[in-house]
Amino acid sequence: MGLRSVLTGATTTLTEPVDPRFELAALAVQDESLPLVFESVAGYPEVSAVTNVVSSRDRIASALGVESGDIVTALTNATTAPRELSAPMDAMFEHVADSPTVADYVPIPTYYAEHERQYIASGIVVAQDPDTGVHNLSFHRLMYDGDTDFVMRLVERHLHDIRTRTDGPLGVAIVVGVHPAVELAAATSGSPDMSELEVANALLDGDLATTTIDGLTVPAEAELVMTGQIRAETRSDGPFVDLSRTWDTVRQQPVVEITSLHLRPDPNVRVVVPGRREHAHLMGLPQEPRIHRIVENTVPTVQEIVLTPGGCSWLHGVVAIEKRTEGDAKNAGLAALAAHPSMKRVVVVDEDIDPADSDAVEWAIATRVQADEDVETIEKAKGSSLDPSQDFETGTLTKWLIDATVPENREQSDFAEATVPGVENVHLEEYQ
Ligand SMILES: Cc1cc2nc3c(=O)[nH]c(=O)nc-3n(C[C@H](O)[C@H](O)[C@H](O)COP(=O)(O)O)c2cc1C
Repeated sequence: MGLRSVLTGATTTLTEPVDPRFELAALAVQDESLPLVFESVAGYPEVSAVTNVVSSRDRIASALGVESGDIVTALTNATTAPRELSAPMDAMFEHVADSPTVADYVPIPTYYAEHERQYIASGIVVAQDPDTGVHNLSFHRLMYDGDTDFVMRLVERHLHDIRTRTDGPLGVAIVVGVHPAVELAAATSGSPDMSELEVANALLDGDLATTTIDGLTVPAEAELVMTGQIRAETRSDGPFVDLSRTWDTVRQQPVVEITSLHLRPDPNVRVVVPGRREHAHLMGLPQEPRIHRIVENTVPTVQEIVLTPGGCSWLHGVVAIEKRTEGDAKNAGLAALAAHPSMKRVVVVDEDIDPADSDAVEWAIATRVQADEDVETIEKAKGSSLDPSQDFETGTLTKWLIDATVPENREQSDFAEATVPGVENVHLEEYQ
């Protein structure tokens, strides 16, 4: 299964030409809940662009064929029981050019004005671990630097480690436009021997078709595949707008040289606007199963944990628990802060509050919190490098924990939300 299988139903198709320089991003962020297909990208008559595919938990759930509240369970099951891939099949993409001037074939958007740069933020890099043979998949922003070259942001995780253990340039495939299950798997960090392709295959019930290109296994239905090499040479990356929607610092990062470019006929080039909903969901959601497991060790009655979009799906978390004793909420909050070191604020709520509903969480804070008793601050902790409010001299910040659960010594019914009877059973359209 590929990207096309989810471009059905509530997708909005724009037929008027759109400029990849700012205009495409401007339309994408107008209403991020709308999956958009740009049928006409100025300068690229053969190519469509697609965005906002995974911009809400509901859309991700529907792509995975589960209920919204069950995404974390689906991810947990897939990472604990990855599914072996079927034999490689023929690719649905076709060879287009060797050593290409990439921007001649695919639109590479610019998103933000102050420091204009062309970036692909939707590229999944596939590389083989020289020791385990496992294929690693991970997203890496790619700044276009003319002709065949991109500068790739390489944080010190698995791909970085593979590169360190490889002699000479590292051969990679860059895959753009795949099923959301592959995107979620690529954004998941597991042990180095975990195959993200097999995780995606488990999420898709065994329906992930793969193929082999330049010795690497990639999704056969990918819309765009580039192969090339990560070279030893470094150049300046950025400035780039990261998850916090503020400008990241400029670093020296490795150059990737593209040696061959492949496209599906009538390709749908996948666009992720940096710092917006899709970027946030893809970063945050794969963290939730791990945070859930760690909180569960401390408070077994934890119900759900959500990294909230308002907090960049990275800096703020909400934990829903079934509270058994006073103190459970603070323990659950401390465990969540420890489980995800980038989390700066955690709110702990009772199980009657949906942690993914920011209005409901604020209502719990408004009606169940007294700041002198229920708010804890932890000073000089290490947080996310993306938080511009931290003390950059010491690299530390203050974390906080809000216990928004009902106190044990109070009448629980005093805090229950009054409901209108029958609200779930009546439908306006039936009365029109
Ligand atoms: C849209 C998006 C963009 C990302 N950009 C980068 C990036 O530029 N550099 C990076 O190292 N990680 C980036 N990440 C995070 C990694 O892809 C992610 O942490 C992945 O799980 C790392 O895999 P690994 O631990 O197997 O190396 C990005 C994630 C997403 C969802």
